[in-house]
Amino acid sequence: MNETVQTLLVALRGAVGPAGLLLDPADTAPFAEDWRRLYRGQTPAVVRPASTAELAEVVRLCAAAGVGVVPQGGNTSMVGGAVPAEDGSDIVVSLSRMNRVRSVDPLDLSITVEAGVTLKAAQDAAAAAGCLLPLSISAEGTAQIGGVLSTNAGGNNTVRYGNARDLILGLEVVLADGTVFEGLRRLRKDNTGYCLRQLFAGAEGTLGIISAAVLKLAPRAVETEVALCAVPTVAAALALFTRLHREDPASVQAFEYMAGTGMALVLRHIPGAAMPIAAPSPHYALVELATPRRNAGLRAMLEAALEAAMEAGEVTDAVIAESGAQRAALWKLREEHAEAQKREGANVKNDISVPVSKVPEMIARATAACEALIPGVRVVPFGHMGDGNIHFNLEQPVGMDPAAFLARDHDIMDAVGEVVRDLDGSFSAEHGIGKLKPYMMPLWRGGAELEAMRRIKRALDPHGMFNRGKVLPADGGV
Ligand code: MLT
Ligand code: ZN
Repeated sequence: MNETVQTLLVALRGAVGPAGLLLDPADTAPFAEDWRRLYRGQTPAVVRPASTAELAEVVRLCAAAGVGVVPQGGNTSMVGGAVPAEDGSDIVVSLSRMNRVRSVDPLDLSITVEAGVTLKAAQDAAAAAGCLLPLSISAEGTAQIGGVLSTNAGGNNTVRYGNARDLILGLEVVLADGTVFEGLRRLRKDNTGYCLRQLFAGAEGTLGIISAAVLKLAPRAVETEVALCAVPTVAAALALFTRLHREDPASVQAFEYMAGTGMALVLRHIPGAAMPIAAPSPHYALVELATPRRNAGLRAMLEAALEAAMEAGEVTDAVIAESGAQRAALWKLREEHAEAQKREGANVKNDISVPVSKVPEMIARATAACEALIPGVRVVPFGHMGDGNIHFNLEQPVGMDPAAFLARDHDIMDAVGEVVRDLDGSFSAEHGIGKLKPYMMPLWRGGAELEAMRRIKRALDPHGMFNRGKVLPADGGV
């Protein structure tokens, strides 16, 4: 460790106190590796400020020392978005001690939270006040608000409420010189120049560090119905979505697709996962309807729609949950897909989106492309069909060396990408760019778009200290 870093660590200890600084490699190691174990970096220290003032001081000190900063929330990135560099030149700043829910306002329908509050804790605080925080992702028990907003997470409720960025009313952000952008407003209308808060949503910590946010809430549902449906084809799943959405768009909270291949992995690897539908199906759909309207008759609407869908051949079998516990059990079959794939072996993720109407064609064409590329590869598509975001994930062929399979990740992503481009889709629907996908930016976002992003980066982080090597490709300066 060089002298500059040693001096910096002493100053950082002064700023955050001994409880706020981790130096022992045994303590810092979990912060240097991503959830998927794709990347392992190194860091001399993990700094854990307990307030915005401490965070601002940490950034000031790192800027003065010329040391890179990697902001980290729950470290659940799917694209290595929060790992420090391999050469140990970045300090990790963990937001986990900034974990206060500052206020919940049921009249304004807003919640003010610090960056280190987990999404689940924020949801619970909203629910305790009779409201709904309408953002739900598989990692919500661990993912923290700062990371969720920085990565503009999507998840299960996008079809009804949009992505994380759509929920932001106000933001507080520590900038690269340690000054604080104090934008914790909770106005529904505020048309005052550039919308700075939206710059930081989806920037993945490359422009500043989100320290707190005001988020929109919705009225809490009083009727909720969840059904798992066996469907014969992907097109049938889409037809079912269209049927329900036409019936009552405001009540469709989630519409998730799962291939039978992924369901089998969940049933094999996840303790307590149980399939309530007797005959295995090649495809499944999970639907959640909810409404704050009393006596809305959601159950009757769902039953009638499923009956009509069965007559039309869109659904072959279905179960409707009868209790909260059964709803959770059905959701578990969907939520554990990523974990089950990890336990099965090496996998490559394609977090792609296409226009909703193109989902069946995308799955068919990408499946053919991947099977031609790697014989025996197991195609495991699942995800948020209602908003066109499918996780077109691939599991290694049985018996193949995991490292050899992972070495083909770019080939796979390129093959899938070709189909997605042809269908006017995106190569990253909700996971972001992180360390995994900057190389794809010139092809997909090149020209004026990428150049404008570079100018924004240079303006807000002139010395390139925040989350180096993420989002923007390395060439062309910071
Ligand atoms: C999910 O929706 O469960 C994730 O985004 C998972 C994934 O891509 O594996
Ligand atoms: Zn997802």
